[in-house]
Amino acid sequence: MRGSGVESTGSFRYIIAKPIREIKNGLSGLSPDLLKRIKIMIVLGIETSCDETAAAVVNDKREILANRVLSQLDDHRPYGGVVPEIAARAHLEHLDRLVAEAMDDAGVEFDDLDAVACTGGPGLIGGVMVGTMTAKAIAFAAQKPFLAVNHLEGHALTVRLTDDVPFPYLLLLVSGGHCQVLIVEGVGKYKRIGTTIDDAVGEAFDKTAKMLGLGYPGGPALEKVAAKGDPNRFGLPRPLRGRPGCDFSFSGLKTAVRTYMDGFPVEQQTEEVKADLAASFQRAVGDTLIDRARNAVFEFMRDYPEGKTLVLAGGVAANKYLRGRLVELTDQAGMQLVAPPLELCTDNAAMIAWAGLERFRLGERDDLDFKPRPRWPLDPEAPKRPGAGVKA
Ligand code: KG4
Ligand code: ZN
Repeated sequence: MRGSGVESTGSFRYIIAKPIREIKNGLSGLSPDLLKRIKIMIVLGIETSCDETAAAVVNDKREILANRVLSQLDDHRPYGGVVPEIAARAHLEHLDRLVAEAMDDAGVEFDDLDAVACTGGPGLIGGVMVGTMTAKAIAFAAQKPFLAVNHLEGHALTVRLTDDVPFPYLLLLVSGGHCQVLIVEGVGKYKRIGTTIDDAVGEAFDKTAKMLGLGYPGGPALEKVAAKGDPNRFGLPRPLRGRPGCDFSFSGLKTAVRTYMDGFPVEQQTEEVKADLAASFQRAVGDTLIDRARNAVFEFMRDYPEGKTLVLAGGVAANKYLRGRLVELTDQAGMQLVAPPLELCTDNAAMIAWAGLERFRLGERDDLDFKPRPRWPLDPEAPKRPGAGVKA
């Protein structure tokens, strides 16, 4: 069911573009006024901020007409993490083709677009530059408006594409580079009420998985192994639990896993030990998230009584165990948890196209001299903490 439950089905459809063209063309006999009112707005989106090269086309009817994502996992796996130079080169090699394929899937020409949007930051700057230059070139050549989208805003607004969630909502943004709690008041209106004081959640998953020899990317691998383990075997810390506020801390948790692991001679570091450590770690993350999110929910309900939704976004939102834990919290609070479908939790370009569309229909656009931004907080007013917050 839309907008409720753990698994958001999302209501988007992958439409083959031909019908869209036909709809557009078929409207030509209508009066200009009516045409204007029912005009379908179409935006191309490009995402290149980390290790996914992606191009997508969405329209203002909340339909995803094309959604191409090329994961670079195999390129980075030998190094156990994303290598920025390899990522930038891979974006350069594949992006043009992906854009062409997305346009083809959607059955639209550049001329049919209303705007071109790309991730303008935050992220690995080489990749952001590739995407930004490509989007600018298309926008310039096709004489279309250009929008440089904040990648975090893409994650933040995805649930409006999939589930039409109204403002305001509370957002838990958890990925490899970010771990923040934000109140989303509207497009471009974000109030950060919590952040990590050290590692992002996804980062903690990735580093812990590496420690346990589970490979890369760590998050999904750890979740899989944890399902077979005993979450009560190892007593791990719950950093900041019971403290006021909504900030997070995960580095102590990761260190505690390392201490347990080092306590076993190599021959005793069995699959069972690893599964139990993974399960104990995942449960500790769940307890910590719930504790911090509970404070955020209280604050949100107090200040925004009309708000009813907690949105879970970012790559870690793909974790089914954590989704389940958060549903317990929202059920208790009389709120609903909405999380995008799994393929829209991790990086993709549909979210960038959609965020661009949301800004564009409010009359916004960016200049072609926009400079890619390696750092770009969603809420520049939020208090700064050392080493915290907006990493990517
Ligand atoms: O949003 P995303 O694709 O990229 C960033 O902007 O960071 O998130 C990637 C992060 C990685 O740290 C990955 O390990 C984590 O999301 N992740 C998961 C799961 N799937 C992806 N973490 C825990 N459980 C998962 N199932
Ligand atoms: Zn992301």
